[in-house]
Amino acid sequence: MYDLNEVKNYCLVCKKCRLHETRTNIVFGEGNKDADIMFIGEGPGYNEDKQGKPFVGAAGHLLDKILAAINLNRNDIYIANIVKCRPPSNRNPLPEEMSSCIEYLRWQVKLINPKIIVCLGAVSARNIISPDFRITKDRGQWINKGKFYIMPTYHPAAVLRDDNKKRPVWEDFKKIREKYDELK
Ligand code: URA
Ligand code: SF4
Repeated sequence: MYDLNEVKNYCLVCKKCRLHETRTNIVFGEGNKDADIMFIGEGPGYNEDKQGKPFVGAAGHLLDKILAAINLNRNDIYIANIVKCRPPSNRNPLPEEMSSCIEYLRWQVKLINPKIIVCLGAVSARNIISPDFRITKDRGQWINKGKFYIMPTYHPAAVLRDDNKKRPVWEDFKKIREKYDELK
């Protein structure tokens, strides 16, 4: 069994897919290693690539605000992405990039062992829940997989682009807080 630092060390030198050619830094993920709740995004953007940290740009600031609204902060959670290196010009990660990288996320989930997993956006939900997941139609409902409660919701970047997504995301995060308290 690896520990998180060992998995991170593999990522730091990883060349399993072509995203390694254009990355500045890998964005492994960070947060509380004992968290009951883990957030899974898509992949690093510009700011994340520069800083080597997840969700530090505009989408990250919105995520912090939503977390604060349910009385959580970054110290309560662990946060990681499907791919650890930034796709050029923020395009969606390609299937082969996701399948190369997902092994690292599996280790993170195994080691963090959260009770709740929140999928932020369609790319995350398709990888974690099912390849045909439709975020608009299927978000906001708990999905049980193994011992995990999984909540798929919109990506904060999508909320920034579309005000109509604010209300449903708020509903989803209220459910997340309820489940979090229930499982304590
Ligand atoms: N969007 C993501 O999906 N992940 C990040 O780390 C930042 C923005
Ligand atoms: Fe390796 Fe993942 Fe980076 Fe691809 S995205 S090079 S698989 S760490």
